[in-house]
Amino acid sequence: MRLVFVGPPGAGKGTQAKLVCSKWKIPQISTGDMLRAAKAAGKLPADLIQRMAAGALVPDPVVVNLIDDRTRDADCANGFLLDGFPRTVPQAEALDAMLRDRGQKLDHVVALEVPRAMLIERAVLRRTDKRTGQIYHLKYSPPPPGADLEHRPDDREDVVEKRLATYEAMTAELLPYYEKLGILNRIDGVGSVQQVSERIFIVLGAVK
Ligand code: AP5
Repeated sequence: MRLVFVGPPGAGKGTQAKLVCSKWKIPQISTGDMLRAAKAAGKLPADLIQRMAAGALVPDPVVVNLIDDRTRDADCANGFLLDGFPRTVPQAEALDAMLRDRGQKLDHVVALEVPRAMLIERAVLRRTDKRTGQIYHLKYSPPPPGADLEHRPDDREDVVEKRLATYEAMTAELLPYYEKLGILNRIDGVGSVQQVSERIFIVLGAVK
């Protein structure tokens, strides 16, 4: 199964992606995680670090190349979940072309919908365990004692506001693009992690 998860910052894409990937045994491919890993390895150019810190998108060709390479890996043979890619229509068109060349296509696009005020609270209080990648929330899913926690620099409230504005500008075109293809599934992202995952699992055709 080949999936795309779309949603504003803090919508729960990463949290839900982990559950879906574990159920379907497909890799979760997050362009945000890949860019942060490149930064941690000292391989991300300064201008891209700056763009991310400011809540802006990195240029389309950068992420298209990352996805083109990563989806050729052996673990993607039975499918994959793209978390946070594509975000623009040119990225979506590049993905379509890439898959078409390989005789493949997307099965579903899941768009997580969460009200703005809730998104800010989710993002600002998010913490990630550096060792395991597990995502926590200081209020809704508190980390265990001893977790080695990281607070993303772009999770400051002022940057989250900018990321939300960037997202809103982007989806104005991206969601209609997938709606037209008939593969867009809008999911209510409000509720517990389990309630949201149940909605997603139904759309993807599996009972938990
Ligand atoms: P990226 O890392 O993709 O960030 P994002 O899209 O802004 O999404 P987030 O990771 O903030 O949120 P999420 O939806 O995954 O939520 P999560 O599950 O963690 O991108 C970062 C940057 O990289 C971009 O700004 C851009 O610069 C660049 N970039 C990446 N991809 C790009 C692309 N394709 N093109 C160009 N640039 C790109 O949950 C959030 C919090 O809420 C957590 O604390 C979690 O525990 C909690 N939570 C989750 N679900 C629930 C629930 N149901 N109830 C209560 N709390 C919940």
